[in-house]
Amino acid sequence: METKQQWDAVYRNHSPPQLPWYHIAFLSHVNGFLKKIGKKDLLIITGCGIGDTVQITYKKGFTNSVGTDISSEAIIRAKKRFQHLKFKRVKTESVHNKYKNANVLDWLNLHQISPENLGTYLNSLAQVSKSLLLVYFYDPARQFHQKSLVTGGFVYNYSPKNVSELLKPLKKTSEFSFKTRINTRFKQKQQFMTIGQVYSKD
Ligand SMILES: C[S@@+](CC[C@H](N)C(=O)[O-])C[C@H]1O[C@@H](n2cnc3c(N)ncnc32)[C@H](O)[C@@H]1O
Repeated sequence: METKQQWDAVYRNHSPPQLPWYHIAFLSHVNGFLKKIGKKDLLIITGCGIGDTVQITYKKGFTNSVGTDISSEAIIRAKKRFQHLKFKRVKTESVHNKYKNANVLDWLNLHQISPENLGTYLNSLAQVSKSLLLVYFYDPARQFHQKSLVTGGFVYNYSPKNVSELLKPLKKTSEFSFKTRINTRFKQKQQFMTIGQVYSKD
């Protein structure tokens, strides 16, 4: 299971350009999701790492974004890199205790959440979100566990149908898939089949 300590070690031992997920560009579907959100509405970017995704939303005009992450090392770096933005160390499993009625972007995290934490992770997202975009690696042809390139843990392969079931009572409004090419400066070049799902409260 990936723990806070493992993620802290990842951020201590890798500079931003060494991270496999560094500067993966948002695709048009993410921009489509963001277009439906008011610029002053609460937007939580869960598992924000060192903050680039929060900065992207800021540049698009969002003034009430907050980035959350399990790793204190990531949050320290995010605060240093983007001093005009808000970051909090909060596990996604408990994000519903801190925020309510939020728009949430969970970008490229879910495939690294261990099966024992999946239910509480998704339940918390279901409680906190009035709208949610969840983007994660999924490939029906891949084995369930694949060794992670950086954490010492695994990349999991959760079926989108199962994820939707666990997010109830949120309603899925759209789903799309694409290929993610990880940071080209990372030592291993790799592509992952990726799925995006948009949910809303009503
Ligand atoms: C693969 S990285 C993607 C980072 C980020 N979404 C981005 O694009 O820069 C996964 C991130 O999820 C965070 N994370 C892992 N488990 C978490 C949890 N249970 N709650 C909150 N963040 C978590 C890690 O610290 C890491 O920053």
